[in-house]
Amino acid sequence: MSPANNKPIAYDLILRQGNVMLSPHQIESVDLAIKAGKIAAISAHIPESAAQEINLQGKLISPPFVESHIHLDSALTAGEPRWNQTGTLFEGIKIWQERKQDLTLEDIKNRAIATLKRQAQQGILFVRTHADVSESNLIALEGLLEVREEVKDWMTVQVVAFPQDGIYGNSQNELLLEKALEMGADAVGGIPHYEFTREDGVRSVQRIFELAGKYDRLIDIHCDEIDDDQSRFLEGVAAAAIRTGMGAKVTASHTTALGSYNNAYAFKLIGLLERAQINFIANPLINITLQGRTDTYPKRRGITRVKELWQQGLNVSLGHDCIQDPWYSLGTGNMLDVAHMAVHVCQMTGVAEVGACYAMVTWNGAKTLNLGQNYGLEVGQPANLIVLGTENPYTAIRDRAPVEQVISQGTVLIETVPSTTQCYW
Ligand code: FE2
Repeated sequence: MSPANNKPIAYDLILRQGNVMLSPHQIESVDLAIKAGKIAAISAHIPESAAQEINLQGKLISPPFVESHIHLDSALTAGEPRWNQTGTLFEGIKIWQERKQDLTLEDIKNRAIATLKRQAQQGILFVRTHADVSESNLIALEGLLEVREEVKDWMTVQVVAFPQDGIYGNSQNELLLEKALEMGADAVGGIPHYEFTREDGVRSVQRIFELAGKYDRLIDIHCDEIDDDQSRFLEGVAAAAIRTGMGAKVTASHTTALGSYNNAYAFKLIGLLERAQINFIANPLINITLQGRTDTYPKRRGITRVKELWQQGLNVSLGHDCIQDPWYSLGTGNMLDVAHMAVHVCQMTGVAEVGACYAMVTWNGAKTLNLGQNYGLEVGQPANLIVLGTENPYTAIRDRAPVEQVISQGTVLIETVPSTTQCYW
């Protein structure tokens, strides 16, 4: 019994009077109770008490942020061994080729776990990371698979086997990619626009689907991450998704060239994408930084057609892509920064559009990761949720609101006390 009010202690934790996001479009002021790691009740008023109760007074309760695209193996290496002076994707790849010669298991794991902790502190509890599998020792993959296991009590990590230097960039990469799947990577990656030739790029897409079928894995391809309007591997990915029936198990990351295609081709392609029902990930912080570098003026924004894909009902999520690495020396891992940039770069400033950008760093990311019933705020689901010091998704993005509580599997994992300002005028 609770000594304070004589009510029976029925739950482990009750969050009282939060603005609970039951879906991206439905917010209700209710109590939410947690028991044995699961959401046990959601109701206008829960009469029982709990071992711990927090009165939220209208603060926003959201499912956790989902980071659907990050490279944990290169995170926190900015400036090593040198800074990216041109700011291009290609100089970034060259610098990473130099840096990765010094990789050790300890180096990778320390930086990955440090990054995951920063992400968790900002409300992320689900992460899809790419692991470069172009080195013969597969050390980045080995490190990130170990990290996936070590953090699983508080963070769900998916690892994509990503052939950074291309599947056909040298004679061993194709075998390394398959070995990575045998070692336990969750998804097959690729980079068709970086292969030597268009034909190699087409062949790489075919091989990715063969491997995904053979090992029953998801697919996440770095696809057309270039301003070249002739880079058209997305249509091949969509066609393969239709023919194999893999649909929602397939993700096309970046697709920045879609922002440069002529409208006649883009219109035809979006029809194909609607049939394919694959997922898309845009990375607005990185896309606006890396793309458009060969333009004078007018200078392209270099991001995929996020608004148009969303308007067609396709699943678009947003990723950070890089945190302080050879491609992007900034970044803290805050998904509200990512959504905020998307609002601007994609010109999604309408109220519904800002709300859609919030969904892109929450529910849509969960769909991309194929999380299914393990994600969301419904009775019976795992109690993974965050409390933001704000009222709704719009103000969350506007103010880049602080995440005050992170609850993982029913336990308060992290608490942040927002800073206060004293004015003396
Ligand atoms: Fe990436």
